[in-house]
Amino acid sequence: MTSIDKNRIRIFDTTLRDGEQSPGCSMNLEEKLKVAAQLEALGVDIIEAGFAIASEGDFEAVQAVANICDKAIVASLARAGAADIERAWAALKGARNPRIHTFIATSPLHMKVKLNKSPEEVLEAIRFSVGLARNLCPDVEWSAEDATRSDPDFLCRAVEVAIRSGATTINLPDTVGYATPETYGAMFRDVITRVPNADQAIFSTHCHNDLGLAVANTLSAIMAGARQVEATVNGIGERAGNAAVEEIAMALKVRHDVMPYQTGIVSTEITRASRLVSGVTGMQVQANKAIVGANAFAHESGIHQDGMLKDSSTYEIMTPDSVGQGATNLVLGKHSGRAAFRSKLAEMGYDLSDNEFGDAFKRFKDLADAKKQVFDEDIVALVDDEVLRGHDRIQVVEVEVYCGSNGPQRAILTLSIDGEEVTAATRGNGPVDALFNAIRKLVPHDDAVLNLYQVHAVTAGTDAQAEVSVVLAENGRSVRGTGAHTDTLVASARAYVNALNKLMVKRGKSALSAAG
Ligand code: KIV
Ligand code: ZN
Repeated sequence: MTSIDKNRIRIFDTTLRDGEQSPGCSMNLEEKLKVAAQLEALGVDIIEAGFAIASEGDFEAVQAVANICDKAIVASLARAGAADIERAWAALKGARNPRIHTFIATSPLHMKVKLNKSPEEVLEAIRFSVGLARNLCPDVEWSAEDATRSDPDFLCRAVEVAIRSGATTINLPDTVGYATPETYGAMFRDVITRVPNADQAIFSTHCHNDLGLAVANTLSAIMAGARQVEATVNGIGERAGNAAVEEIAMALKVRHDVMPYQTGIVSTEITRASRLVSGVTGMQVQANKAIVGANAFAHESGIHQDGMLKDSSTYEIMTPDSVGQGATNLVLGKHSGRAAFRSKLAEMGYDLSDNEFGDAFKRFKDLADAKKQVFDEDIVALVDDEVLRGHDRIQVVEVEVYCGSNGPQRAILTLSIDGEEVTAATRGNGPVDALFNAIRKLVPHDDAVLNLYQVHAVTAGTDAQAEVSVVLAENGRSVRGTGAHTDTLVASARAYVNALNKLMVKRGKSALSAAG
């Protein structure tokens, strides 16, 4: 093996599986396919496309992603039972490079409380599940859920059994985000040196961010011998999220002097991936987020600005271009035609079908009429809002609102539900309440509660587009919808309706929640 192979870190992206388990996140099939295509462009090695047995929708998503990926390995998660593994394989078997990813918990707490199994029974389950998966698929990953709270001797025995049963990748997750860089690295060193057949598998990290240490822990495990990392775009995931793929990739690139490892990540695709994921999930990226936040390359103080003008390396350890963050620029105006709009979309990495382009162009013209200057951020909000919603069952057709200090505030709303237009007129305690009452009247959803209503301006100026986020919760499930428009109330209706569409997708999922 050359030193390049030895130091090659495989990137296993789990945005579509663990990332989608973020509270409030869910993606429909079309959105998942767009994300998968962008993940391939980003150069990830493995795409975990879902948890095939979790729902019909997850099964279809794994199958569809498996069918479109021609470079990346496509994985499906499966618990340690035959039904899970067979379902994963049924979804994956059309893939050019399939992987079954099976897992079982190994910590005393999980084995007792969650699985009600003795350690010996867990070892037997590993033997059975990994063996069955390997009979179906040549590429099998096994994960020791809650590895960081497992007994080290038992963990070593479990890993040895998994490798002997046919696992080619061994993942040691920090499921609850409990590890520190020192303890996580030490666990890998311990397992890799003590397990006799460790050289027959690639070791993988999987870190959650409960203590804000997910990326640091991941890097520590690489230094200790891990050669695969599991991560998500923007770090989305259960609770405080997973390790962020863009942070790991750029840390390895920028600090190659102290971490001499390579990944296949095409760093200039990072911003595009980040924007797409935040657009389809509605999870906005915080402004000061490393690498992809709006302020990641912004310089406020005079001293910093002066230094930047003289030489950007005074205050920047990487350039915005290197992560695909171009400077914000004025793009198009109301006289711009189809060709200019098409070439702007291509430059920003959007690849739209003819119908999608037609819809987006109409929205762009309306926006350019309403707003003097159209910026890149406007185009992103517009495309995310219009195009990715094209197949939603419920669509906002028309919004009319009466508001002001002399109530009552009223709304007249027309929705299209499965292609049929319906209208309601309602009152409310303010225009937003009136509007949401109209939605409730047209699409009753008594069990769902509105947990968040948030407005932010996409760009500066009083003519800026408003981007509204709405979180709806129903029976322990929560979904986030977003909508953008220069009229805040139209954006509000679109956000609420987007959340309702996502709720319908989520209702299709079973109550499976075993995997973190
Ligand atoms: O966090 C975790 O342990 C997981 C496993 C299922 C890999 O997501
Ligand atoms: Zn996880």
